[in-house]
Amino acid sequence: MNTSYEKWIKQKIVKLQAIDCYSAGVTPELLAKQIGVGISQVVKLNFNENLFVNRGKQTALMKELADEIDLRMYPEDEVPKLVKKISRYIDVPEEYIIVSNAGDELIDRTIRLFIEKGDVAVSFSPSFAIPRLCVKRQEGEYVTIPLKEDFQIDVKSMLSQFSDKTRLLYLCSPNNPTSNQMKPQDIETLAKAFPGIVILDEAYGEFADYSFVPRIREFPNMIILRTFSKAFGLAMLRLGYAVANPELAKITTEKAPLPYPVSGFSIRMGIKMLENMEIMKTAVASLKSERGKLIKALNQINGIKAFDSQADFILINTKKNADEVYEKLLKRGIMLKKWGKILQYENCFRLTVGLPEMNTKLIEALKKIQSD
Ligand SMILES: Cc1ncc(COP(=O)(O)O)c(C=O)c1O
Repeated sequence: MNTSYEKWIKQKIVKLQAIDCYSAGVTPELLAKQIGVGISQVVKLNFNENLFVNRGKQTALMKELADEIDLRMYPEDEVPKLVKKISRYIDVPEEYIIVSNAGDELIDRTIRLFIEKGDVAVSFSPSFAIPRLCVKRQEGEYVTIPLKEDFQIDVKSMLSQFSDKTRLLYLCSPNNPTSNQMKPQDIETLAKAFPGIVILDEAYGEFADYSFVPRIREFPNMIILRTFSKAFGLAMLRLGYAVANPELAKITTEKAPLPYPVSGFSIRMGIKMLENMEIMKTAVASLKSERGKLIKALNQINGIKAFDSQADFILINTKKNADEVYEKLLKRGIMLKKWGKILQYENCFRLTVGLPEMNTKLIEALKKIQSD
């Protein structure tokens, strides 16, 4: 083989291998096989998916779509139609809206467009992992400031990091994994002082108390990220959007840079869900009601502390070692996201608010494990 190619590809692969990537760990099918149960017995509470969305109604919409769309065609007219519907949903003009291949792609796209080698991004910790991975891939620096003990932002320390090298501020609210919303005044102070792009990640916005979307005109440097994966229960389809001032929205849309980055099927399904808004609204109301009950039940277990939540998941801390609890839950077919140490809490887990029958299994398992 060509020696120039061999030398180059070896070096390239070493460089690519050094890029940190997201790893989800064991999958439900793999776990079911490992513990010798059927997939339906796995209690999957590790990905913040919304099982309260009525699957029958969603399937009926998909069937309608099957008759309406022609898969042989490129999705030319789909995005403007979705933008119109989103505009009505969030009450923001169409020119403020960016459609994306879900939230992760929007984060990736924004960072690819705006962050260059040597630029610095600022965020707090713990928080969502994807922005750090994207900034690192751009050969930028990712600086994080720990949240305060009440999971709110240490504004003074964050402000002290701002300089003419800091070009991205990533704020997640409600925050994954702590599940709380940040104080609006803190977000405002930081966004107004920041000399770069601010991504405000509101992926869990529909489960929360407030949103910055109605205030977007006050923040010309802000991109507010929303997704169809959570409240609307379309995680499989990879559909999201963002809200930003028209100049930012236009450049982020036009320089995607592929001509049809989002699947037409996904877009049309997003439109259907927005035309049948009661599916999402009912799901969110049911989930929030179950969330309250679940937090209460978790807090009644000896050795468990469950924190309040404004998302579709809950953060808990266990007295017992997180690795031990995690393995015992897996053996019972229960999947949570293990975080380990978060600030002053040693053994943390993030768990999706599941359907009542899933939560009952979780509660029983945790009671048993804590009393062993
Ligand atoms: C805070 C946060 N932002 C964004 C996302 C991305 O979601 P998606 O790519 O499915 O829209 C997630 C997914 O879990 C998340 O937790």
